[in-house]
Amino acid sequence: MTAQPTAAPPTMTALRAHLRGGPEQFELEEAPVPEPGEGEVLVEVHAAAITFAELDWDLSWTRDGADRTPVIPSHEFSGTVAALGPDADGTFQLGDEVYGLVPFDRDGAAAQYVAVPLANLGRKPVGVGHVQAAALPLAAATAWQALVRHARVRSAERVLIHGGAGGVGAFAVQIAAALGADVTATVLEPQRGFVAGLGAHRVIDASAEDFDGDGRAYDVVLDTVGGDVLVRSFGVLRPRGRLVSLQAPPDPELATAHDVEPLFFVVGPDPEALGAVAALAETGRLVIPIAATFPLADGRAAYASGARSPRPPGKTVLIVR
Ligand SMILES: NC(=O)c1ccc[n+]([C@@H]2O[C@H](COP(=O)([O-])OP(=O)(O)OC[C@H]3O[C@@H](n4cnc5c(N)ncnc54)[C@H](OP(=O)(O)O)[C@@H]3O)[C@@H](O)[C@H]2O)c1
Repeated sequence: MTAQPTAAPPTMTALRAHLRGGPEQFELEEAPVPEPGEGEVLVEVHAAAITFAELDWDLSWTRDGADRTPVIPSHEFSGTVAALGPDADGTFQLGDEVYGLVPFDRDGAAAQYVAVPLANLGRKPVGVGHVQAAALPLAAATAWQALVRHARVRSAERVLIHGGAGGVGAFAVQIAAALGADVTATVLEPQRGFVAGLGAHRVIDASAEDFDGDGRAYDVVLDTVGGDVLVRSFGVLRPRGRLVSLQAPPDPELATAHDVEPLFFVVGPDPEALGAVAALAETGRLVIPIAATFPLADGRAAYASGARSPRPPGKTVLIVR
C-alpha cells in the first residue's frame, strides 16, 4: 500500500547512546536525519523491535574496530519509504510500506528515520500492523532460511525444533507446519501450551522428558539451544538427515559418524526470505507474539525490561509513530 510520504526534516528524535554500556546510556535527543547512500532508501520508522543481546555485541558499538558512538539501537523496523538514495533501483517508491533489518554495525531504527540498503528491505505484509511487522525480520527470516534454504524441508518430513517457544523457534514451528512437515518441538514446561497453539504436532517438555527416546526418528533437526542438545541431536536423525544449528557449526566428525548433513549459517540480507515471510503473514495464520510495547520516549525503560525474568514470548517493540 502506498501512503503519501512526508518530506524528511534535517533532524529527528532518536534514542542514542554516547558511551558503550547498558540501557542507562540511552537518551532521547535530536540527531541528524541520515542520508540514504547509493542503493539505499530512507525509511520513516513506525515501529522498531529490540534484540536485547545487541548491547553486548562489539558490532553494535564499533565499525572495523573503531568506536562509532553515538549509536542508535534497534535493528528491525516497519515503516514507509521517505526518500530514495542515488541508484535505488525502482524496487520501492516513496510512501511504500516496508519492513526489514538494519545491518548491526550501522545506526538502528529507534528513531524517526533510518537509512537501509535495498537488500535489507521487503514489502510490509498487507494487513499486518507495523508493531507486528517490526517483530518479524530477524527471527522469522532466520527460521525461513534454516528450514527452506538450508534444511530443504519437504511435506510430510518429520522435523524436530529445539527451543520451539523462542524467538526463532516459534516462527520455525509455524513455518515447518506450513510446509506440511510433521513437527515436534522441545520446550521448557511453562511454554508447552503456547507452542502447541503454533501448530506443533507434538511438544516435548525438555525439563521432564528426553527428546531422544525414539531412536532415529527425524529427517530434520533445527537446534536453537546448542550445547548438549546439539550433540544428542545427531542420534535422532535418520541416515542423510539434516541438522541445522544456529549457535555453532555441528561437529563434522560426529556428522560423518552418524551419516548426517551438518548445517550452519548466519542470517543475512534476504529479500526472498522477507517476501516469503510476508506471504505467510498475509494468510493471517502466523502468530506473531509481542512481549511488550513502549513509546520511543520510553526507550531506556524498554531496553531495561530485558532484565525481567521470565519474559513473555515475543519481541519488545518501540512505537515510533
Ligand atoms: N545463526 C544465526 O543467523 C542466528 C540468528 C538468530 C539467532 N541465532 C541464535 O539462535 C539462538 C536462539 O535465538 P532466539 O532468539 O530464538 O533465542 P530465545 O528466544 O532465547 O530462544 C531459545 C528458547 O529455547 C528455550 N530453551 C532453553 N533451553 C532449552 C532446552 N534444553 N530445551 C528446549 N528449549 C530450551 C528457551 O526457554 P527460556 O526462555 O525459558 O530459557 C527459549 O524459549 C541464540 O543463540 C541466537 O544467538 C542465530
